[in-house]
Amino acid sequence: MRKTRFAQGSLSPTSLVKTSEELKLIEQACRIVADTLALLEKYIKPGIETIELDKIAEDFILSNNAKPAFKGYKVDNKVYKNTLCISIDEEVVHGIPSSRVLKEGEIVSLDCGVNKDGYFGDSAVTYPVGKISPEKERLLEVTQKALELGIEAAVEGNKVYDISRTIQNYVERNGFSVNRELVGHGIGRKLHEEPPIPNFVPPLLARRQFPNMKLISNMTLAIEPMVNMGEYKVVTKDDGWTVVTADGKPSAHFEHTIIVTKNKPIVLTYR
Ligand code: MF3
Ligand code: CO
Repeated sequence: MRKTRFAQGSLSPTSLVKTSEELKLIEQACRIVADTLALLEKYIKPGIETIELDKIAEDFILSNNAKPAFKGYKVDNKVYKNTLCISIDEEVVHGIPSSRVLKEGEIVSLDCGVNKDGYFGDSAVTYPVGKISPEKERLLEVTQKALELGIEAAVEGNKVYDISRTIQNYVERNGFSVNRELVGHGIGRKLHEEPPIPNFVPPLLARRQFPNMKLISNMTLAIEPMVNMGEYKVVTKDDGWTVVTADGKPSAHFEHTIIVTKNKPIVLTYR
């Protein structure tokens, strides 16, 4: 989500800890998210329109007595109208489903959020369309691995920046770059909760914006590295939503909702 949407670290970490009843509800929302993304994988083929994927996702979520969390979501004065964000190649996140047709060799990021009985889950995956280039293969591998390593850092006793540093170091060591405009987030009672979880260690002057909050067991977090093959800079297109890389090179996005524990975080949106 956009980093500008967070209040400046006013909440106490303990207020973000969920009860076991809440965790069960969040888990149910996450199960639907993961099943939706798994279902969509079967449809990722050259020739399908992205709006068809959106329809499949919406129908599946509704048939599980849940609601798409992004549909109707307001940012500033704009309302998001779809179930999924679908972002192809140089589109980083928040691509709008349309009559655009997937083509062999593209990479497509699907981002899905679900509201089930008032609790939320959020996850994203980037799938290849048919056969993709070796560079794109490596971009997907590195982004997925960055997410795994970031998740491993989300344990009690660590802080938010431990997740950020782990992701940034791994990505940059592999020659790619991390997004500075969009961040992971707390989740559960709302789609976006404190704390923001940047995929980079904020420079000194930006640290007030990103509190380096202590992680406590039973916090629920959405960790979501967005990795660019080229430079880290991004711009928003005229549609007001679609974020694209400034240099036009491809970008990938993987996201899971997890529960912080004492040693091994629980991934609620595993597929
Ligand atoms: N998963 C997205 C995020 O955390 C949520 C997109 S909200 C929408 O940034 F309104 F753009 F759909
Ligand atoms: Co998210």
